[in-house]
Amino acid sequence: MNVLIIGGGGREHAIAWALKKSPKVDLLYAVPGNAGIAEIAEKCFFDVKVMDFDRILDIVKKYKIDLTVVAPDDPLGAGLVDLLNQKGYKAFGPVKEAARLEASKSFAKDFMKKYDIPTAKYAVFDDYIGAVKYALSSKHPLVIKADGLAVGKGVIISQNTRESKEALDLLMRDKKFGASGDRVVIEEFLQGPEITVLAFCDGKSITPMASSQDHKRAFDNDEGLNTGGMGTFSPSRVFTRATAKEFADNIMIKTVKGLISEDIIFKGVIYFGLMLTDEGLKVIEYNARFGDPEAQVVLPRLETDLLDIFNACIDGNLSKLKIEFNNDACVCVILASGGYPGEFEKGLPIDIGDIDSDVMLFHSGTAPSKDGKRILTNGGRVLGVTARGKNIEEARKKAYDNVAKISFKDMRYRTDIGIKK
Ligand SMILES: Nc1ncnc2c1ncn2[C@@H]1O[C@H](COP(=O)(O)OP(=O)(O)O)[C@@H](O)[C@H]1O
Ligand SMILES: [Mg+2]
Repeated sequence: MNVLIIGGGGREHAIAWALKKSPKVDLLYAVPGNAGIAEIAEKCFFDVKVMDFDRILDIVKKYKIDLTVVAPDDPLGAGLVDLLNQKGYKAFGPVKEAARLEASKSFAKDFMKKYDIPTAKYAVFDDYIGAVKYALSSKHPLVIKADGLAVGKGVIISQNTRESKEALDLLMRDKKFGASGDRVVIEEFLQGPEITVLAFCDGKSITPMASSQDHKRAFDNDEGLNTGGMGTFSPSRVFTRATAKEFADNIMIKTVKGLISEDIIFKGVIYFGLMLTDEGLKVIEYNARFGDPEAQVVLPRLETDLLDIFNACIDGNLSKLKIEFNNDACVCVILASGGYPGEFEKGLPIDIGDIDSDVMLFHSGTAPSKDGKRILTNGGRVLGVTARGKNIEEARKKAYDNVAKISFKDMRYRTDIGIKK
C-alpha cells in the first residue's frame, strides 16, 4: 500500500516510523513532512499546506495513494476525511462530525454530561455580558476556554476576577482566536496529575493504548508558559491497574456508547486528556487524533502492525485484532528553539552527533537545507529525542545522554522530563 501522511510534526514522524515497519507499506509520502520523515519517505511535499485540500486530492490521485492518514486537528475539523471518502479514497481519522469531540469544547462537555462521564462542572456562554457576570460571581481559580480550536492556546486559568475579565475580553471581544472565541466554556478548576490515554476506535469497539504523561510548561518544575509539549513519558506511574479499570468502565466505554447513541461514527484515535483528582478520574478534554508528543512515546511500545490497526479501524474489524504493547518504558525530550513558545529564529543548522542506534530522533520543526546537505530548524519544537528502557529512569538517562550530542544555536530543553509523578 502507498500511504500519505498529513502533517509535519514529531507525531507524524512517529507514525511514519511505525508504518515503515509494516511489510505491507510500499511507498510513504507526507504533506508537508519534515527532514526526519524525508529520510524514510519516498517524498515530502514541503510546499503543500495541510489545509490545501485541492492539492492533497491531486497528490492522492497522482501518486496512487491507497491510504491517507490525517494526523492534525485542523484538517480533521475541516472535513478532509469526509472529502477523501466522498471521492472514493480511504482515509484514517474521524469525519468532521466525529472530530467535533475536539473541535468544539461545549459539544464535548454537553456530551459528557449527557452520558454521565466525569468531568469538571461547567457553563457555556455565547454572550460576553453573561459570561462576565458568571465569572465574576464564581469561585477562583477558574478555567476559561475558547470553544473552538485555538492552536492549544485558548485555555486560560484565571486566579481572580480581574484575570477572568481580561480572559473573556481577549477571547470574546478582541477575538484573539477569531470565531473560536464566539462561545466560551467556563469550568471549575480541578487539581491532580494529568494523564493521557489514546485509544483506537472503529466506530463500535475501542482499544486503549499505553498511558503517557506530558510536560506542557516551557521550563523545569512546570514554570513558564504552556507549550505544545516539552516532553513525555510512558507508562504513567499513577495510571495503576485500578485506575485503568476505572477509566475503561467509567469513561472509555461510556464514551463509545454515547457516540453510538448519537449516531456518530468515530473511526480513528480518541485522545482522552484525564486528570486524577481526589474525587477520581475526570476528563479534561477529548482530542480526535494522536497527541504530540504522546505519540512519540506510545508508538515505539506498540508491537502490532500499525497499518493493520488503521485498516481495522476503517473496516470496522477492530475487535478481531489483538493489539499489544511491550513492557518497555519510553521517554521523549523535546529540543526547542530559543524563545519558544514566543518568537524564535528559524533556519539554524543542527549538529547531530553519533546517536545511539536504538534511540529514535523524531523530527518536529526541521527542514533540509536547499542543497540537501544539512538539517535546519524550522519550528518552535525542533526534535524529540526518544529512548526506551526497562523503566522510566533508564529510558530517561539514555534520552538525556543523547540530547547532549545535539546542538543548534539557542537550543533549549527541560531537564526534568520523566521525573514527575
Ligand atoms: N478544569 C480544569 N482544571 C484545571 N486545569 C485545567 C482544566 N481544564 C484545562 N486545564 C489545564 O489546561 C490545559 C489545556 O486545557 P485543554 O482543555 O486540554 O485545552 P487545549 O489542549 O485545547 O488547550 C490542560 O492540559 C490542563 O492543564
Ligand atoms: Mg489539551
